[in-house]
Amino acid sequence: MEWLIEFRRSAGELSSAKPLVATLATVDAGGSPRARSVVLRHMGGDGSLWFVSDARSDKNVQLAERNEAEIVVWLPEAREQFRFFGTVDRLGAAATGGVRLEIWRQMSDASRALFFWPAPGTPRTQGDAAFPATVDAATAPPGTFETLFLEPTQVEHLRLLTHPHQRRRWRIENGWEREEINP
Ligand SMILES: Cc1cc2nc3c(=O)[nH]c(=O)nc-3n(C[C@H](O)[C@H](O)[C@H](O)COP(=O)(O)O)c2cc1C
Repeated sequence: MEWLIEFRRSAGELSSAKPLVATLATVDAGGSPRARSVVLRHMGGDGSLWFVSDARSDKNVQLAERNEAEIVVWLPEAREQFRFFGTVDRLGAAATGGVRLEIWRQMSDASRALFFWPAPGTPRTQGDAAFPATVDAATAPPGTFETLFLEPTQVEHLRLLTHPHQRRRWRIENGWEREEINP
């Protein structure tokens, strides 16, 4: 897929050493848009974009109800934006081994600890002791740890370095053929 080659060329291989912060947009139960930052932790050979999130958080609940989402990445050095629209699948506690465990082990002690904190988005009633700072890689991932991956059905690439700007789109329904569109 041409867009995958383009993204890798611009962003490099995603890894624990080179995580990328992206914006994830979802739709809530009332049909309103919601967006937040997430770390992209892995890109599958099929172009799936992997991130992790607490099963109790709003985004996971929203995605369980409606799995359409968009991920937007801004690469400041390249001055390029990628937008990935598609559906999101979640791997929770029932998914043993595989990528979920691999990502868990590659995460930092500080990132793993978040999944042992009190439920996100609920009133802050506990003292600091309820929020561990580190959890080592030997600890099994708790049920709150979910790995999610977006499988794109439409990708857009905007390059600001050229004049005029270059905007390309690829759609699965179009056989992933490149479409040059106005920026
Ligand atoms: C730089 C940065 C990276 C973040 N990465 C993640 C992440 O990988 N996963 C995650 O669930 N939240 C991440 N967050 C926190 C989310 O942006 C958000 O505040 C939190 O997940 C709650 O969102 P929700 O209520 O929409 O689920 C990150 C925040 C920042 C500022």
